[in-house]
Amino acid sequence: MLREKIRRFLVYASAILTVLVGALLLLPILRANSGPDSTASSEMFRTKCAMCHGQDGAGSAVGRSMNVPDLRSPVVQKLPDAELAQAISNGKGGMPSFKGSLSEDQIQALVTHIRSLHHKK
Ligand code: HEC
Repeated sequence: MLREKIRRFLVYASAILTVLVGALLLLPILRANSGPDSTASSEMFRTKCAMCHGQDGAGSAVGRSMNVPDLRSPVVQKLPDAELAQAISNGKGGMPSFKGSLSEDQIQALVTHIRSLHHKK
């Protein structure tokens, strides 16, 4: 009787342990999977955009001399995604066009990145 209880306890305990260990092992994998995308777009922003817009979107010294808007500001954040994508794609004012060097997906990823700058502020 007691042995049966211990046996059952061990079965439950090992089942719970398996689930816990499984979750612990899976978490970093899931996180790593959602990671590269945002890392890639922030890397892209750093190499293609930060010279004018600054890594945080506020605008570099060069950018400010060209009157870049603060990408985190409501003025930019209230623009629809399509308009941001179009500005990146076709250029605007002193901003060069990127449609020759970036794919649609990359431009979309940059739009998402610009949205995330807003939340970080
Ligand atoms: C050579 C400097 C320069 C570079 C590089 C540059 N920008 Fe710009 N950007 C500007 C300027 C100047 C403006 C303001 C344009 C205007 O409104 O006349 C601007 C405006 C913008 C806007 C606001 C558009 C709007 O409709 O008001 C967004 C979004 C933007 N840039 C994103 C980016 C992204 C993303 C990159 C990198 C792929 C980038 N920019 C690279 C100079 C630059």
